[in-house]
Amino acid sequence: MSFSLPGIKESDTGLAPPSQWDLVSDKQMMQEEQPLQVARCTKIISPNTEDAKYVINVKQIAKFVVGLGDKVSPTDIEEGMRVGVDRNKYQIQIPLPPKIDPSVTMMTVEEKPDVTYNDVGGCKEQIEKMREVVELPMLHPEKFVKLGIDPPKGVLCYGPPGTGKTLLARAVANRTDACFIRVIGSELVQKYVGEGARMVRELFQMARSKKACIVFFDEVDAIGGARFDDGVGGDNEVQRTMLEIVNQLDGFDARGNIKVLMATNRPDTLDPALLRPGRLDRKVEFGLPDLESRTQIFKIHTRTMNCERDIRFELLSRLCPNSTGADIRSVCTEAGMYAIRARRKTVTEKDFLDAVNKVIKGYQKFSATPKYMVYN
Ligand SMILES: Nc1ncnc2c1ncn2[C@@H]1O[C@H](COP(=O)(O)OP(=O)(O)O)[C@@H](O)[C@H]1O
Ligand SMILES: [Mg+2]
Repeated sequence: MSFSLPGIKESDTGLAPPSQWDLVSDKQMMQEEQPLQVARCTKIISPNTEDAKYVINVKQIAKFVVGLGDKVSPTDIEEGMRVGVDRNKYQIQIPLPPKIDPSVTMMTVEEKPDVTYNDVGGCKEQIEKMREVVELPMLHPEKFVKLGIDPPKGVLCYGPPGTGKTLLARAVANRTDACFIRVIGSELVQKYVGEGARMVRELFQMARSKKACIVFFDEVDAIGGARFDDGVGGDNEVQRTMLEIVNQLDGFDARGNIKVLMATNRPDTLDPALLRPGRLDRKVEFGLPDLESRTQIFKIHTRTMNCERDIRFELLSRLCPNSTGADIRSVCTEAGMYAIRARRKTVTEKDFLDAVNKVIKGYQKFSATPKYMVYN
């Protein structure tokens, strides 16, 4: 209903004033309207003509040849689409969006992570490379068109655990307005054959429906296993999932608005097919931070801590050779713990030194970094 009555405004809620409600006829309309049934339009007979007919398949009932309802235009309906049909004449009433697994929809990260490039210590080169691949093609696609090259479709980040791969991906997500989908490799390893591949397909289907989208596969070690023949075909399922990712990477336009990021601790296990040109053709290595980077990471993690003034962070980072960003973060936390134990309100340099001793020296037995360094 529209109102052109003089002197009457719609209220802020968009509702008409109560004096104009017609509850009786509204109620009647609600009763006449029936819920629609979901069907799939499997074929269009003589399309683009006056007497086009539609074959629909209603699950577990039957197939029908039907026409269109009044509110649907023939251009809205395509073969293979899901549609809503009424329950009397089974006419097509509305086109429906494709079905996407709810667990895939759940992977979309709606809220931007609160990590920025400022929270990443060192990694200058890595940040630069990531921005080049992710931000530049999204913001200035014309540069690539002019030169006649396809921008890389995605980036593979690799390096030992705790070196900031996930951290940097989150910072990138924060920078762009693109929709961000984060998938952990193990989520794609499913119980039933073919499930993982189907999830990947639906994931990219969802990505394509967005204006711009970044898909981040974290910890792909779980699915990245190089294709090999183990004789019994035990890991076939995992390989199938990987193949579907490769297939989907080939399927979209490099100048389009989908970018794929991947992170792994074990680059040696990845299928080489994934790294061919035109797929993930950028590889960004995350190494152990150098002295300067370590100092920076110390400063980042102590930013919100209540520390004594003039702590020699450079000295501290000298004492932590071969440490990852994650190690340094534990040192800072541990230093805080020492202060708490001594019932002090500020953290002293001595606390940090004790923490370095405890974390770096004491936990060496548990550290997996040397093991992973072999692979990276
Ligand atoms: N370069 C870095 N600068 C600042 N903090 C870092 C850095 N690298 C690692 N960290 C710290 O270690 C934690 C774990 O790092 P993460 O990115 O998850 O490692 P991974 O490379 O295994 O994905 C981060 O949350 C962050 O606090
Ligand atoms: Mg990680």
